Amino acid sequence: MSDTQSPILKLRNIKRRFMLGETTIDALNSISLDIHAGEFLAVWGPSGSGKSTLMNIICLIDTPTAGEVTFDGQDTHLLADDELTDFRSKKLGFVFQNFNLVPVLSALENVMLPLQIQNVDEHSARERAAAALVDVGLERFKHSLPDKLSGGQRQRVAIARALVVNPKLVIADEPTANLDSENSRMVVELMREMNRARKVTFVFTTHDPRLLEHVDRKILLRDGNIESDEVGA
Ligand SMILES: Nc1ncnc2c1ncn2[C@@H]1O[C@H](COP(=O)(O)OP(=O)(O)O)[C@@H](O)[C@H]1O
Ligand SMILES: [Mg+2]
Repeated sequence: MSDTQSPILKLRNIKRRFMLGETTIDALNSISLDIHAGEFLAVWGPSGSGKSTLMNIICLIDTPTAGEVTFDGQDTHLLADDELTDFRSKKLGFVFQNFNLVPVLSALENVMLPLQIQNVDEHSARERAAAALVDVGLERFKHSLPDKLSGGQRQRVAIARALVVNPKLVIADEPTANLDSENSRMVVELMREMNRARKVTFVFTTHDPRLLEHVDRKILLRDGNIESDEVGA
């Protein structure tokens, strides 16, 4: 099978158990899932259904209790910690509920950060970050500090920061949870546009069913199980 057909991400029988004293919480029971290049996918479900636990495993921040995670053909279980960190910084982009921008850095400097971590030289980092801000429609705000931006604008800076490394996959855990419905819709539409125009693969989570009209595929999680996996809006 060629690279374009094999999935970017393959999860097989993923379980994640948390132990809290005497209590055992099975946050994920047995999740198997393939994500292919170019997909625009939402994982939705009520609070506590396991969405964040699943996202942390997909973005290689957390390790499952059992099961296999294959990312871009690599069995991630076999990677050492430093290899994992390198893998993560080159192949994955992240968008968070709380935007996670550095408050003392301008929008441009925030977007430059992942490139600086990869030791891209200052000049190229600045140019690539500026281009990424143009892509999300924030050229005019590149020298603004995050607290001078609206929530929707901050999340657009965070999307530019996720995309600037040309990741294989962007993971967004509840990217709209702190936004009003108008800004939520704008953020999802922006991700959709980046998906269409630049073939970026996105997985985002939400508990808001109104955002599902924009996606190609939606996976409903309930109590750590996939209850449905539907293709088509
Ligand atoms: N670090 C943790 N320690 C203990 N329990 C956890 C931890 N993270 C998540 N859980 C539990 O796992 C379940 C799924 O949580 P989570 O993945 O955060 O759901 P969601 O993101 O859908 O709200 C919940 O019962 C939650 O309390
Ligand atoms: Mg969550």
